Amino acid sequence: MLPPNTRVTLFPNKKMEKFRDSIIHQIETLERKTFPKNEIMAIKEEIFKKTNNLLIAYYEVEVEQTEEIREFDKRNQRNQRRESYNKKVQVKIMGYLIYSHISSTALPLTKILKLCVHPSYRRSGLATMLLKWVFEKTGVPKKSSANLHVDITREGAVSLYRKVGFKVVEQVIDYYEVGRDALLMEYEELSNF
Ligand SMILES: CC(C)(COP(=O)(O)OP(=O)(O)OC[C@H]1O[C@@H](n2cnc3c(N)ncnc32)[C@H](O)[C@@H]1OP(=O)(O)O)[C@@H](O)C(=O)NCCC(=O)NCCS
Repeated sequence: MLPPNTRVTLFPNKKMEKFRDSIIHQIETLERKTFPKNEIMAIKEEIFKKTNNLLIAYYEVEVEQTEEIREFDKRNQRNQRRESYNKKVQVKIMGYLIYSHISSTALPLTKILKLCVHPSYRRSGLATMLLKWVFEKTGVPKKSSANLHVDITREGAVSLYRKVGFKVVEQVIDYYEVGRDALLMEYEELSNF
């Protein structure tokens, strides 16, 4: 189940800037744990590409922190230690989607470049939520077509894409490396999601 305070937003953005390092670190970790070496994206570089957008699904938690403070006690003329408790907000990344949107051409195209949901939050509709968010933002299918490449062996991902309305248009031989084919899928219609 997804936490009730689940949020979806484009990143970077002003409000989340203070969490930048933690967000990028969590995405890089998830990326490394999920994908084979030649599919791992350089997240920092990808999000600075003009045509790319990073969408994150996250929730915030408040954590208590204990800090040790050393100070000089004037009355007793000696150093002393005390503990200070404070609350700090942390952002927990549940999933992310990287897409490009080229709208300058006669036929605008939205391309899903990467989609990943943390294992703890799978089969709860999060990937569907992220895809739906992108379609609404970029006007798929009325104002933009959409496509993606997916490793033919990623059966879960292929099922997901079919369920939201993508159809296989081509099997691209050796797309990822020799012996690893991709399916090129295009969005056709809004299904029941
Ligand atoms: C593929 C992935 C993004 C799906 O994320 P998710 O949040 O679990 O997907 P959803 O909950 O929105 O799934 C919607 C539907 O897609 C299908 N689906 C999703 N994962 C599936 C799986 N592992 N096996 C079979 N069908 C699956 C189901 O029809 C599901 O509906 P249901 O749960 O009611 O049966 C996630 O498993 C993941 O990150 N996998 C590793 C990375 C990856 O393969 N990325 C995609 C290629 S870049």
